[in-house]
Amino acid sequence: MVKDSIDKLLDDAQSGKSLFKNREVLHFTFVPDIILHREDEQKKVTQSLLPLLKKSRPSNLLVYGKPGTGKTLVVTKVLNKIKERVREGSFPIQLLYANAKEEGTLYGLLIKLGRQLVDRAGEKEFPTTGLSISEIFNRIISAIGEKGLNTVFVVDEIDYLAELVSKTGKDVFYSLTRANERLKKGSLTLVGISNDLTFKERLDPRVLSSLSEEEIVFTNYSVGQIKEILEERIKAAFIPRAIEQAAINLCAAMAGQEHGDARRAIDLLRVAGEIAEREQADSIKEEHIRKASLKMEEDKETTALNSYPLHEKLLILAVMKANGTTTGEIYHSYKNLCKIIRQKKSHQQRELMVLVRFLQAGTQNY
Ligand SMILES: Nc1ncnc2c1ncn2[C@@H]1O[C@H](COP(=O)(O)OP(=O)(O)OP(=O)(O)O)[C@@H](O)[C@H]1O
Ligand SMILES: [Mg+2]
Repeated sequence: MVKDSIDKLLDDAQSGKSLFKNREVLHFTFVPDIILHREDEQKKVTQSLLPLLKKSRPSNLLVYGKPGTGKTLVVTKVLNKIKERVREGSFPIQLLYANAKEEGTLYGLLIKLGRQLVDRAGEKEFPTTGLSISEIFNRIISAIGEKGLNTVFVVDEIDYLAELVSKTGKDVFYSLTRANERLKKGSLTLVGISNDLTFKERLDPRVLSSLSEEEIVFTNYSVGQIKEILEERIKAAFIPRAIEQAAINLCAAMAGQEHGDARRAIDLLRVAGEIAEREQADSIKEEHIRKASLKMEEDKETTALNSYPLHEKLLILAVMKANGTTTGEIYHSYKNLCKIIRQKKSHQQRELMVLVRFLQAGTQNY
């Protein structure tokens, strides 16, 4: 008897049949035990923070390299190891972490760091609204000074902080990198992580010279290295023989195409696994990796498109539907779309025209 496809899915779910052994292992926050091909980088980050164990202040450090080259992973692992060792010491050490992109505002970022400095939840000293940036900064400095804490502030995706700073006009960068001049007791070391290699050029030279007292560059992974990283992850994430060798090779090749991005490789693997499982395939094959890559591209485009306001979305659609590529033809198509969805044309004619010209240039490049 042919089994009903719903029944088959439900049966497999109930009998616990799955290609995955542990999905968590493919989540971006997972910290693997073994970090392959980053010996040199792990050593350099550890060495740069070593003074803490010898009761002195490490230099400020700037870590940079392309996306998915293991920067966050290596710095997190070194910090965790140091934390394990210094819990009981007489030299009070506090390691704080915040991601400037996730926090989104300068206020949010400083509050996030501040709260990690105080024992309680810190809501009183560091409320979510109501303080000036310089006041939060003063409170951070007093919290450090009062307890004589030796702090390391890790600011991940620090290039976003540069943007936040330029929006508010507050030179927090300068204050952070020079905080030690204000501290009588305790210290502050800033560790910045960035995948924007042009970020340094945008910094004030005074800030740059103190932020990059030390610098560590993460090089790109080769396709072979990505493959080994994948194979290590596969052992923990999937049941045995869940993935064909050809699929692993393709996944590594796709992720290695531009600059060897381990995140893209692991994401491809996870999505391919989900697709294979949904198709009830008995293993992950090359076709699943290809489908995963397409899906991820589509998701990226959808997310990008979703973030546009309505009339900009309509214009993009208008370019696709227009009978030609002249400004008049695109505008005509846009007006038609507005009619169809019963929307008034946008008042912001000038902005729309700038976008039309931008889109026209884009279509001409194809
Ligand atoms: N050498 C490695 N061994 C095992 N896993 C790795 C390795 N390098 C990176 N990864 C994994 O790849 C993913 C991306 O790594 P990570 O987040 O550290 O990149 P990143 O350099 O901080 O990238 P971005 O600049 O985009 O933030 C993570 O899931 C991480 O666990
Ligand atoms: Mg990172």
